[in-house]
Amino acid sequence: MRRERSRLNLNNLSGSSITASAEETESVGKALSKVLPVNAIVALFGDLGSGKTTLVRGLVQGYGTNSISSPTFTLLNIYEGEKTVYHFDLYRLPKEEEFVAAGFDEHFTAGGICCIEWAERIPSLLPQDAFNIRLTCLGDEKRKIEITRGGK
Ligand SMILES: Nc1ncnc2c1ncn2[C@@H]1O[C@H](COP(=O)(O)OP(=O)(O)OP(=O)(O)O)[C@@H](O)[C@H]1O
Ligand SMILES: [Mg+2]
Repeated sequence: MRRERSRLNLNNLSGSSITASAEETESVGKALSKVLPVNAIVALFGDLGSGKTTLVRGLVQGYGTNSISSPTFTLLNIYEGEKTVYHFDLYRLPKEEEFVAAGFDEHFTAGGICCIEWAERIPSLLPQDAFNIRLTCLGDEKRKIEITRGGK
C-alpha cells in the first residue's frame, strides 16, 4: 500500500491525508481555502473532537480572518474575510426542516463558502457537488482526512 500522507489532491479536491497535529489539520484547511470555488458546500463528518472546527479554523484563516470560536451553541457563525465563510455546527439541530425554516439554505448560494459540521443532520439538503470531508481519529494527535465529492 502506498503511503497515505501525500494522497490529498488539491487540484480535483479528492483523496486523503493523515495529519499529526492540530496545526497540520489547520494547514489542510488553509490549503483548501485556496482552491474551493465560490458557493462551495464543505460537508464535515467525524466524531466529537475529530478536528472539524480545527480544519475550518485553518480555512477561515486562509481568507484572512484570525480568530474563530466554536459555534457549538449558535448553529451558525459568519466570518467576513476575502470570502465569507458560513460556519455551521448542526450537532444540536433538532430536525432537518429547521435548517430550511431558519433560512440557512439561502447561504448556500450567497457567494461565499459554507462549512457544515455534523452535515449528516441534513442529508437531503446536501447538494450532489458538495465537498465531503471525513475526519477520523487514529490516535491522540493523528487524524485521517478524506475528501470525496457528492451528496450523501
Ligand atoms: N491532527 C489533529 N487534527 C485536528 N485536531 C487535533 C489533531 N491533534 C489533536 N487535535 C485536537 O483535537 C481537538 C479537535 O477539536 P475540534 O473542536 O476541532 O473537533 P470537532 O470535530 O470540531 O468536534 P465537535 O464535534 O465537538 O465540534 C482539538 O483540541 C485539537 O487541538
Ligand atoms: Mg466542532
